Amino acid sequence: MTIREILKMGDPRLLRIAPLVTKFDTDVLHVLITDMLDTMRAANGAGLAAPQIGVDAQLVIFGTDTVNPRYPDAPVVPRTVLINPVITALDAEIENGWEGCLSVPGMRGVVPRHARIRYTGFDQYGDPIDRTVDGFHARVVQHECDHLIGKLYPMRMTDFTQFGFTEVLFPGLDALDDD
Ligand code: NI
Repeated sequence: MTIREILKMGDPRLLRIAPLVTKFDTDVLHVLITDMLDTMRAANGAGLAAPQIGVDAQLVIFGTDTVNPRYPDAPVVPRTVLINPVITALDAEIENGWEGCLSVPGMRGVVPRHARIRYTGFDQYGDPIDRTVDGFHARVVQHECDHLIGKLYPMRMTDFTQFGFTEVLFPGLDALDDD
């Protein structure tokens, strides 16, 4: 078990366009995913993208098998390893919602996202994933996949009056929140 350092906003490695993963079911890939799961769990994250630990590859993980203490009211998103993802918006509807990011610690902002998406890609064994989702699940996937094209959530924000420190915005959440 290895908890890796999470890069913070300002690090240029978070701004790269990640290349496709070309080899599946390798020892290197399995070790990387185990490290990412350990790192996400240790930080109580809803998701983590490989570029956030300095690995330039189209790989994200998200979801939990239990309720996430940082998002106690959110529906459970199944734990997923998603490689080489492609996201398609299913309609024009946009939803605003609060987001945080382990690379932007201690802050929250309201981000517009597509309400309903289909996403495709592969798991670590090269088996295809094809899901149609909405709400929090759709938001998490869009947030994580943005890390693969060098986008952090503040770069998607449109209303900076809804951006601030978690401890000020959500005092009750403070003790649970260590991002
Ligand atoms: Ni993030």
